[in-house]
Order: sequence, then structure tokens, then C-alpha cells
Amino acid sequence: MPISGSPGRYSPVAQGFHWIIAGLIVTQFTLAWMADDLPLGMHKLALLTRHKSFGMTVLMLAVLRLSWRLFNRPPELPAGMSRIERILAKATHVAFYVLLFAMPLTGWLMSSAKNYSVSWFGRFTWPNLIGPDEGWFVALRIIHALLSWLLLSLAILHILAALKHHFWNKDDVLKRMLPFTKSEERT
Ligand code: HEM
Ligand code: HEM
Repeated sequence: MPISGSPGRYSPVAQGFHWIIAGLIVTQFTLAWMADDLPLGMHKLALLTRHKSFGMTVLMLAVLRLSWRLFNRPPELPAGMSRIERILAKATHVAFYVLLFAMPLTGWLMSSAKNYSVSWFGRFTWPNLIGPDEGWFVALRIIHALLSWLLLSLAILHILAALKHHFWNKDDVLKRMLPFTKSEERT
């Protein structure tokens, strides 16, 4: 299979990054919200430890994805899209790339400020980025939560846009991001 995909489709590499990271983001929200509802204790800490490991996995994948993306252009958007739709689509994608770094980094900084270690599935421990500082911990905790709401809102907008393309516009925008499908080249 060609690594760049056909001209009107996202390549298998782009699709792989997209769906693995999207799955991890869902996992992150699930773990964080489950932990939120629990009192301080072993169960909460275990969920947050896993949240931190998966979150650092997102950071590693984000580095690989962005590096790969800088050298591989995505397919063009369908010709019929208005200027405002194009701007919104591009701005959402850029914001996603920024958040794929900002979410893990604020989490990592927050844990460092509290002097809580960040392990990667018990295999190794990431170094602390800053020294203990309660003020920074409180600020970073708020920033991490605010950014998560921004990410969630953009994801809802993004999913609604993908569904609108598929069911309303009846174009290939969703299909060309889906593995194991064929799209007509209507870019
Ligand atoms: C894509 C990556 C990540 C996403 C989407 C994410 C999302 C979230 C969300 C939605 C919450 C709940 C916020 C709230 O209370 O409203 C949360 C909390 C938390 N996150 Fe993350 N997170 C990510 C990465 C990380 C990383 C890498 C770390 C640490 C290394 C981390 C550490 C934490 C901690 C400690 C909390 C609990 C904060 C508290 O005490 O309430 N997160 N995260
Ligand atoms: C929170 C999870 C998600 C994130 C962070 C995310 C992020 C992204 C990013 C960054 C791109 C641009 C890819 C590039 O050009 O490099 C993209 C494209 C796309 N995503 Fe998502 N996505 C998520 C979930 C979803 C879901 C659930 C769907 C399906 C309903 C979806 C459908 C699409 C489609 C169809 C495209 C291609 C748009 C185009 O052709 O311009 N995404 N996504």
C-alpha cells in the first residue's frame, strides 16, 4: 500500500495516527472523569496514574504525528466548501495539534509542581519539569481543566462537521479518513 495514500485520501499513516490518538483522547476523558468522582484513595490514584501514562503516550505520538505531518500534505478540501468553512476546518485542525501538546504538557507540569512522579506504565519515570510550587500547581490544574473543555468543545464541533459532510453534503470528507473504505476522488 503506498505510504502517501491516493491523492484524494488520507494515507494509512495519517489515518492510523488520527484514530489511535482519537481513541486515547476518549480514554483520557473517561479516566479523568471517573477519578473526579472518587474520594482521595488508592482507586483514584490508580486511575490518575493510568491517565498520566496514556497522556504521556499522546505526547510521544503527537511529536511523531506533527513531524510526519510537516512533510506530508493532507488531501485538498472539497471544492464546494465556502471560505468560512475552510477557515473553520483549518483552524480546528491547528488547534487540535496545539492541544495535543498543551494537554500533556500542562498535566506533566502540574504533576511536577506537586512533586508527584509521572511514570510510563511503571516502565520508567519522566523527570520533573519544575520544582514543587503550590501556586503553579493550582494555576496549572485550572489551565489543564480549561484546555480539556476547549478540546471537548472542538471535538464535538469536529464530529458534527464530519457527519454533516457525510450525510448532508454527501462528499468523501469522512470516508477518506476511514480505513478500509474507498472514496471517489472528488477533491
Ligand atoms: C491528551 C492528554 C490529556 C487529556 C485529554 C487530559 C484530560 C484531563 C481531564 C478532562 C481532566 C479532568 C479535569 C477536570 O477536573 O475538569 C484531567 C485531570 C487531570 N490530568 Fe489530564 N489530560 C491529559 C494528559 C495528562 C497528563 C500527561 C498528565 C500528567 C502527566 C495529566 C494529569 C492530570 C491530573 C493529575 C488530573 C487531576 C487534576 C485534579 O486534581 O483534579 N493529564 N485531565
Ligand atoms: C478527539 C478526537 C479527535 C481529534 C483530536 C481529531 C483530530 C483531527 C485532526 C488534527 C485532523 C486533521 C488531520 C491533518 O490534516 O493532519 C482531523 C481530521 C479529520 N477528522 Fe478528526 N479528530 C478526532 C476525532 C474524530 C472523529 C470521532 C471523527 C469522525 C466522526 C473525525 C473525523 C475526521 C475527518 C473526517 C477528518 C478529515 C477532515 C478533512 O478531510 O479535512 N475525527 N482530525
